[in-house]
Amino acid sequence: MTGGAGFIGSNFVLQCIAKGETVINLDLLTYAGNRANLIEADREACHIFAHGDICDAAFVGALLREHHPQAIVHFAAESHVDRSIADPGAFIRTNVQGTFTLLEQAKAYWLELSETEKRNFRFLHVSTDEVYGSLRPTDPAFCETTPYAPNSPYAASKASSDHLVRAYFHTYGLPTLTTNCSNNYGPFQFPEKLIPLVILNALEGKPLPVYGDGMNVRDWLYVGDHCSAIQTVLENGRPGETYNIGGNSERANLDVVHTICSLLDELRPNATIGDRRTLVQFVPDRPGHDRRYAIDASKVARELGWRPTVSFEEGLRRTVQWYLENAHWIENVRTGAYRDWIRQNYEERIAQ
Ligand code: NAD
Ligand code: DAU
Repeated sequence: MTGGAGFIGSNFVLQCIAKGETVINLDLLTYAGNRANLIEADREACHIFAHGDICDAAFVGALLREHHPQAIVHFAAESHVDRSIADPGAFIRTNVQGTFTLLEQAKAYWLELSETEKRNFRFLHVSTDEVYGSLRPTDPAFCETTPYAPNSPYAASKASSDHLVRAYFHTYGLPTLTTNCSNNYGPFQFPEKLIPLVILNALEGKPLPVYGDGMNVRDWLYVGDHCSAIQTVLENGRPGETYNIGGNSERANLDVVHTICSLLDELRPNATIGDRRTLVQFVPDRPGHDRRYAIDASKVARELGWRPTVSFEEGLRRTVQWYLENAHWIENVRTGAYRDWIRQNYEERIAQ
């Protein structure tokens, strides 16, 4: 797998290990990659960490031949929309060039396999619902045949990588699978994303920055459910197909923020801070901010029997509890680079 030191990847590593599977984890350890996410995994001999770049063809090729994997699960990416607006180049490099390099190396490796190994090999590409663009309030949810209409540099780079994966199936026969998932949340998410950012700010009585009018809608899926969907598609998905994955939990951002405030007021009341909803601050919007995402996950349910198991309310409670219990992890991720990003993205917004 690639990107296994990031948020979803590290949850996936733990799930694989619990199933007794061996995982070769290739990760560059960018600002978003964190070895502390893998402390538990590192205790197991079946977790092998390889520090490297998916854009490094020689490194990827050598790793494949050294470990002879049966599948590649590709998580590695630049993943934060606001950063893609500030610095799109990094997204083109990793998400487009990196996926291309990985596909080239995977194809060369796959062509060397025996006929049986070739038939059983899979390349699973982890993608996003953002490739489909933005929905109006009454539009039907995104399905696998919804035309692509990416609106941010991040979404455009992921759409581009999805097209490359599709082309490698159609042109070369590489047995690929693609999953397009909605917003994840849960343990180990880097606190630049809405849910962990709001948990940490609310805990400390800091302003809770809500972009625009707070009425943008996202569909939320607990990360463990996303990982089980990926396992399901990997084991039983049909090569060449794409599968939409979602939580059937559409929420406006302001509702998400209010729910976090209520959970923290209950679990960590603080008389000085008082009612945490008063910390909400409406700030200038994200440029090109997609209004609504919604996922129709009926194909993966019908064909492969996967459904989400954790409700948004239960998942959010578990997530808030995890951040409350992991102060040391939080302290370590809030490095100088993290503080620089918070200053860059919020200082002017909050001053307005
Ligand atoms: P993340 O930003 O938390 O982690 C990305 C990981 O990739 C990090 O460990 C980083 O070090 C690694 N990485 C980055 N560039 C690399 C490179 N050039 N070579 C090797 N490793 C590199 O991301 P995430 O939120 O865990 O998302 C994982 C994947 O799932 C991404 O492809 C993302 O597009 C997709 N996705 C995410 C969500 C979500 O809500 N977070 C939803 C749908 C799909
Ligand atoms: O939909 C799947 C995507 O979900 C993934 O592909 C991305 O990798 C992942 O980052 C996520 O993208 P979003 O842009 O939806 O997530 P984010 O947490 O950045 O923002 C969620 C919503 O909250 C979005 O409408 C913007 C808003 N927001 C975000 C931040 C960071 C705020 O209002 N304030 C904030 O400070």
